Amino acid sequence: MGKVFGLLGHPVGHSMSPNIHNDAFGHIGIDATYHAFDVDPNFIKDAIAGLKALQISGCNVTVPHKIAVMEYLDEIDEEARLIGAVNTIVNVNGRLVGYNTDGRGFVESLEEEAQIDLQTKRFLIIGAGGAARGIVTSLLRKGIGHLTITNRTAEKATPLLKLAKEFKTQAEVIEKKQAENQLSHYDVIINTTSIGMSPNVEYTPLSLEQLTDKSIVCDLIYNPLDTAFLIEAKKKGCLTINGVGMFVNQAALSFEHWTGKKPERERMRKIVLTNLGGTSC
Ligand code: ATR
Repeated sequence: MGKVFGLLGHPVGHSMSPNIHNDAFGHIGIDATYHAFDVDPNFIKDAIAGLKALQISGCNVTVPHKIAVMEYLDEIDEEARLIGAVNTIVNVNGRLVGYNTDGRGFVESLEEEAQIDLQTKRFLIIGAGGAARGIVTSLLRKGIGHLTITNRTAEKATPLLKLAKEFKTQAEVIEKKQAENQLSHYDVIINTTSIGMSPNVEYTPLSLEQLTDKSIVCDLIYNPLDTAFLIEAKKKGCLTINGVGMFVNQAALSFEHWTGKKPERERMRKIVLTNLGGTSC
């Protein structure tokens, strides 16, 4: 039998990960298969023990298990530790090592699609949950000019401010209204919340009335491909980036951790777009 990889999540029915990884194994010529495992939160400890018992070579971890799996792993890489969540596990001869490729996946998609030097840029992050933490951690590690966070529950952004301090990056938390009034201050604006995700496609996380065409506007959502937020930003003449690049890149980086081989990201992107019924992104 070839190597076995998988996804631990709940639910996993709509995941595109099996499609893109199985295609990449076939395309590169690796004898392996990838399966989606729907793991009830009560059984996550057993599922991790199962990875060892069944000699499963590696897996992705998704909602709601990204934090819960951490205590059962043998080693956690620095970025995943800083983010406080794991989305990739590699089984190295029975030792389970945790990584997080979400943040780097986003940063690489921003660099590819916007071709900018992050070091001098001012960022506005909308949201302060798990997704925001992944992205902020990777941005801080890379080095950015300035960080502003706005979140419905302002206190939840405090750990992100602490993280910014560790990286000696100036950071602040502001109210949504203030962010809306000074949108022209930001080079890059990123929605990390689920506001605008299908089926609630008519909502936007904040008003873009004051937006100028100088800002790059990103949304981590990829269903729909263009959220109402991105459609509004496009109307203002902004470069926009949706969540497909991040999804593809996090998958490609996980694949590299497991196999040491680089999958063709363009192939992965096409599979994702075909699944989503879109033609471009
Ligand atoms: P994820 O791991 O996807 O980031 P999360 O950790 O639950 O999920 O975080 C969700 C983020 O979206 C939070 O910043 C949340 O704001 P709160 O911290 O105030 O809960 C934000 N969010 C979700 N739904 C929202 C809504 N309807 N209005 C404003 N913010 C919302």
